[in-house]
Amino acid sequence: MQRGEKLYEGKAKILYATEDPQLVIQFFKDDATAFNAQKRGTITDKGVCNNTISARLFELLETEGVPTHFVRQLSEREMLVKRLEIIPLEVTIRNIVAGGMAKMLGLEEGIVLSQPVFEWHYKSDALADPLINEDHIAALKLASEAELEEIRRLSQRVNAALRVYFSKRQIDLVDFKLEFGRHQGQILLGDEISPDTCRFWEQGTRRKLDKDRFRRDLGDVEAAYQEIVRRVVA
Ligand code: TMP
Repeated sequence: MQRGEKLYEGKAKILYATEDPQLVIQFFKDDATAFNAQKRGTITDKGVCNNTISARLFELLETEGVPTHFVRQLSEREMLVKRLEIIPLEVTIRNIVAGGMAKMLGLEEGIVLSQPVFEWHYKSDALADPLINEDHIAALKLASEAELEEIRRLSQRVNAALRVYFSKRQIDLVDFKLEFGRHQGQILLGDEISPDTCRFWEQGTRRKLDKDRFRRDLGDVEAAYQEIVRRVVA
């Protein structure tokens, strides 16, 4: 598959057309941003790590009954994916309090939740992806009720599968963000699943193995991404 014209460049990835109108190439960059791109940097080989990790996790999720946009890995930094009409929603699922939830509710990070917390966010860089509810989504016609139900069902399945998968690798899945899109009448999981979009804490030590090392200037950022690759590939 050859890269065609550039269709879109985001903060961490670039999408290229291919000769097949239903397929696009997702290229993973080393660029990192945080706090709505107010903080910018690069994480050496992040693109290679996130491509490898996402490919492995999409394969896993397909076997768990979650349809994804993933087709195959093409190179170190490229994956072939199905073209999606992206639904402008970001789904967050939280198992342990951290980040935005800690801030919003004045809670200490690390509280283990009695059940997973599901959140809808409106996908808008300009607004910093605000929290919204299903009434907002319905009123603004962002997605149908049937689509929301399907997204919720798939997201819960992702959480269940990834929690088990990472727990076997001595990692707690604290929280994560998912994006979905429409492809030939079906809802597919899109984007990426990586230390950019998940919080991973090493069991026992609670060492952070994700982008919080970059957001919070904790150091050893590259090593954290490499460690997730090592455990995911193992
Ligand atoms: P939050 O606690 O900042 O709301 O983040 C929840 C999860 O979503 C966390 O695993 C990181 C991920 N995330 C993204 O993938 N993109 C974003 O823009 C933000 C803010 C968080």
